Amino acid sequence: MIIAIANQKGGVAKTTSTIALAGLLAEEGPCLAVDLDPQGNLSTGLGVDASSLPYTTYDVITAKVGITEAIAPTRFGLSLLATDISLVKAEKDLLSQPDRFYALKSALEPAKSQFEQILIDCPPSLGLLTLNALSAADWLLIPVQCQFFAIKGLEGLLETIDSVKSRLNPNLRVLGVLPTMAETNTVITQDVLKLLRSQLEGVRVFDPVPKSVRFPESNMAGEPIHVFTREWRVVQPYREVVRELLMLEEA
Ligand SMILES: Nc1ncnc2c1ncn2[C@@H]1O[C@H](COP(=O)(O)OP(=O)(O)OP(=O)(O)O)[C@@H](O)[C@H]1O
Ligand SMILES: [Mg+2]
Repeated sequence: MIIAIANQKGGVAKTTSTIALAGLLAEEGPCLAVDLDPQGNLSTGLGVDASSLPYTTYDVITAKVGITEAIAPTRFGLSLLATDISLVKAEKDLLSQPDRFYALKSALEPAKSQFEQILIDCPPSLGLLTLNALSAADWLLIPVQCQFFAIKGLEGLLETIDSVKSRLNPNLRVLGVLPTMAETNTVITQDVLKLLRSQLEGVRVFDPVPKSVRFPESNMAGEPIHVFTREWRVVQPYREVVRELLMLEEA
C-alpha cells in the first residue's frame, strides 16, 4: 500500500508522524519511507545525511535513475528515499512534462513489489509535489494540529482531495485525520477534537497524539519515537494507526 501523509499547513507533525509510522511498520515487513519535501526533514529525522548520498528523490522523480539505485538503508530496518534541497528544482523540471502529475507514481512502480508499505512525507503545500504523492497513493493520512485554525485549512484540503479523486486518482481514499500535539486536558484541544469528529462526516478521526517533548527529542536523535522512548502514551496512538493499516492490507 502507498500512504501519503499530507496537509498544506506547516508544522503539524507530518514528518514526525511519517517517521513514527514507518518505524513501526518496518518491524512488520519491508517498508519504504519517501522524503518528498525539499526541507529533507524526514531524511534528517531518520539520521540520514542526504547530501552524502549519490542519488536522492530529485533524481528518481525526474527519471534520472531508477528508484532501486537510490534507496538508502537506515538503522531501523527501514528503507529511505532521501531528499535534500535539490528537490526544489523538481517542480520546475516537471512543469513542462505532459505526465507531470504521475512522475512519482511511475518512479515508485519498481519498488511496489519490493515493499509492503510505502509512506510518502509531503511538503507543506498543495503544489505539484503533493499532487504527485496524491496521484500515487492508495491512502491519505492527514495530521492536524489541535488548534482552532487547523480546522479551517482542512476544508481546502478536503476539496483538493475530491478534485484529485475525480481528475488524477480515483483510487485515493482518506485513511483518516490524526490529531497531533494534543494537550488532552485543555479546553481548546477538547473543542478541536469535538469539532473534528462532528464536522468531518465519514472521515475517521484517530486517537490524538499528545504534545510531548519526546517528539522533538527523537527527531534530534534521528530515531523513530518507539525506538527513542518506551513511554506508552506517546507511542500508542501511532500503533493504532499501524494496526488500522495492517487490517486494511489484509482485507
Ligand atoms: N506530538 C508532538 N508533541 C510535541 N512536538 C511535536 C509533536 N509532533 C511533532 N512535534 C514537533 O513539532 C515540530 C513540527 O513537526 P514536523 O516537522 O513533524 O511537522 P511537519 O508538518 O512535517 O512540518 P513541515 O510542514 O515544515 O514539513 C517539530 O519540531 C517536531 O519535533
Ligand atoms: Mg515535514
